[in-house]
Amino acid sequence: MRSTWFLPLLVFLCNFLCLFTPCIAKPPHVIFILADDYGYNDVGYHGSEIKTPNIDKLSGEGVRLENYYVQPICTPTRSQLLSGRYQIHTGLQHQIIWPPQANCLPLDDKTLAQALKELGYATHIVGKWHLGQYKKACWPTHRGFDTFFGHLTGSEDYYTHEHTGCGMTMTPACSNWKGYDLRENDDVVHGYKGTYGTHMFTQKVQQLLQKHDQTKPLFLYLPYQAVHSPLMAPAYYTDMYKDIKNKKRRVYAGMVTAMDEGIGNITDTLKNIGMWDDTVIFFSTDNGGMVTEGGNNWPLRGWKHSLWEGGMHGVGFVTGGAFPDARRGTTYNGLIHVSDWFPTIVSGLVGSSVNGTKLDGHDVWDAISTGSPSPRTELLHNIDPLQPSPKADFMGNYVVKDPQADTFNTSIRGAIRVGDWKLITGDPGDNRWMPLPDSGITPPKPTDPKGKRLWLFNIAEDPNEFHDLSEFRPDVVEQLYERLQDYYKTAVPVRFPAGDPKADPKLHNNTWSYWED
Ligand SMILES: *[C@@H]1O[C@H](CO)[C@@H](O)[C@H](O)[C@H]1NC(C)=O
Ligand SMILES: *[C@@H]1O[C@H](CO)[C@@H](O)[C@H](O)[C@H]1NC(C)=O
Repeated sequence: MRSTWFLPLLVFLCNFLCLFTPCIAKPPHVIFILADDYGYNDVGYHGSEIKTPNIDKLSGEGVRLENYYVQPICTPTRSQLLSGRYQIHTGLQHQIIWPPQANCLPLDDKTLAQALKELGYATHIVGKWHLGQYKKACWPTHRGFDTFFGHLTGSEDYYTHEHTGCGMTMTPACSNWKGYDLRENDDVVHGYKGTYGTHMFTQKVQQLLQKHDQTKPLFLYLPYQAVHSPLMAPAYYTDMYKDIKNKKRRVYAGMVTAMDEGIGNITDTLKNIGMWDDTVIFFSTDNGGMVTEGGNNWPLRGWKHSLWEGGMHGVGFVTGGAFPDARRGTTYNGLIHVSDWFPTIVSGLVGSSVNGTKLDGHDVWDAISTGSPSPRTELLHNIDPLQPSPKADFMGNYVVKDPQADTFNTSIRGAIRVGDWKLITGDPGDNRWMPLPDSGITPPKPTDPKGKRLWLFNIAEDPNEFHDLSEFRPDVVEQLYERLQDYYKTAVPVRFPAGDPKADPKLHNNTWSYWED
């Protein structure tokens, strides 16, 4: 029998030595959970009627971020999370990547997964990619992830795992295109038909954690498909909400509670296998809730797709066994943006350099783990010079370049935050306040004249954007407008190509796949 005194002695010696020399701490496991279309008013700790006991508990054991921003739609938030760069610097300023578009996150942008892989992390993604699929080089396993299990496109049937439609108006018409969209690494994977997406991804993560060699740090990116439409949830969850009369809201509530349960299950697994104490968990939504699909952002103005707060003021928190004890149970009110996670994780948390990587994000690890002021004092929400033509639809079809787009002007859709001030230009999207269906609340009616193209708000004093101060504070308008002009000079051209008929799933064995080498 090997002597048993050796290991305790070694541990003792290591601890002893640490008193005198800087310890080389083992980098923590990092789990990033991204919820889809999850609204500001859809989490228990914001007072929602939807039950999220696990999210409430986990966030309560960490830090809740209450001045946290994401982008108004899917692809942009995902692109900024994984690259740490604003959309004006990746060409993804306009809309999402639709399945027939030959477009993806630029291949020369290093992803968070690549950076962590270089630092010795095992890197996995389970869930929805939505950063382009037209060539294999754009796929997750070619962008820094060791493994991938999930969907390449943006929304799927939760049981058949098929994506229908193309989001674009093109010839030949593609609205009926239907393709299977579930892969393990680069290959189509079968055997999950009938398994609800949220259960499927949760189980996959649990298996992955159980197989993980714990001597290696883990980066797990879990972009749940939940709680994006189509509205589908097992009756077990929707039955908890018999008192919600609005059917969409009821099903949506069930979807949220299923996701919450999945997060609870993953937490249990981490604890059971002894990984919890070494893990930091990040949670974020990808954009505001979609009010026509059950989501809600009340009392914020606007919703998904818009540059109003309801489109971008996101639910987010940081927690886990390796989160610093001193900050547990706190709320952080410093400004934080989704582009900050790249430097925050690579530099602040893991302690490596991000030199040589062009970034728009700030390292906010110190800020959230000690409660000090945020290094971020300014936030470019977006500048999108593609304008809807009169024929446009909300999908972003029929766009034209703003005729004066060579220099910044107020007809360009943009928004910037500097300190507490927010300036909006152009058409920011639907400007209504939307209370919960059946709430009995009559929301205020927007009084903006048609064609209005400039707003200024003090978000700290007026978080729900009732009072446009642009006429009263021309000095602030000028200052923020100049910042938009400065940013606009650094923008790369927008990439929003026409749909390519070669994307048709019929040409790829009825799956969504790549069509260029
Ligand atoms: C969570 O675990 C329980 C118990 O194993 C299981 O019944 C449930 O379906 C799981 N939920 C999810 C979302 O994976
Ligand atoms: C990163 O860049 C800064 C400024 O150029 C330099 O001072 C620092 O030493 C660099 N750090 C590393 C780890 O290379």
